[in-house]
Amino acid sequence: MSRSIAIDGPAGAGKSTIAKKVSAKLGYIYLDTGAMYRAVALKAIQSGIDTKNQQGLAGIMDKLDIAISHDNNLQKIFLEGADVSEAIRTAEVSAGASNVAAFPEVRLKMVELQRKIAAGADVVMDGRDIGSYVLPDADLKIFLTASVEERARRRFDELLQKGQQVTFEAVRQEMVQRDKNDSSRALAPLVKVPDAIEIDSTALEIDEVVEKIIYFYQNYANIKFEDIS
Ligand code: CDP
Repeated sequence: MSRSIAIDGPAGAGKSTIAKKVSAKLGYIYLDTGAMYRAVALKAIQSGIDTKNQQGLAGIMDKLDIAISHDNNLQKIFLEGADVSEAIRTAEVSAGASNVAAFPEVRLKMVELQRKIAAGADVVMDGRDIGSYVLPDADLKIFLTASVEERARRRFDELLQKGQQVTFEAVRQEMVQRDKNDSSRALAPLVKVPDAIEIDSTALEIDEVVEKIIYFYQNYANIKFEDIS
């Protein structure tokens, strides 16, 4: 049986940075499920389909060609063979991803792929519904949060570093809107399940959160291992 750690939480809580570090320490694969919904949104935008158009989306899902590769703990995502790992990181795609993620036609296909990957390898998977829906039997479930201001600040800094032209207020509003969307959709909404451990990362350094997760994994998930790097 392969092992799994599920890390869920709202946008900007630090899930991907932390999941990447935890997976590197354990020698597990890191799977960023948000990248998949982002790739679907990018495809819709490229095809001139409104990301809120359920029928339009359903029409492209059958032929959708999304692939994921893992090299040295680095995930790359490909859309029709092209590496779109960077192209999916814009504010337009973020908002679009939250729209497309509400549709069962999109989710079920993505979840199938996520479960297939988790069945074949030890994984740290981050997203919104990993512990609640994708991997309900995960060995450890973490719900990672932070204050809205802090999450918006982190995302703002990240976008600025990438040279994107954004204002703090626009980033904050987009994030609040996306959290609302993600928490209120009918299928697999963002939710903290009772068996998840909540970590508030507002005042914590990245490595402190990583250490906490490794500690919980060793002590609460019945995992015996000696060689954590
Ligand atoms: O990195 P950030 O937290 O901003 O977002 P992300 O993890 O890349 O996810 C982008 C969007 O995809 C989210 O706002 C969700 O709407 C959707 N998503 C989802 O519905 N389920 C997941 N397991 C992961 C992402």
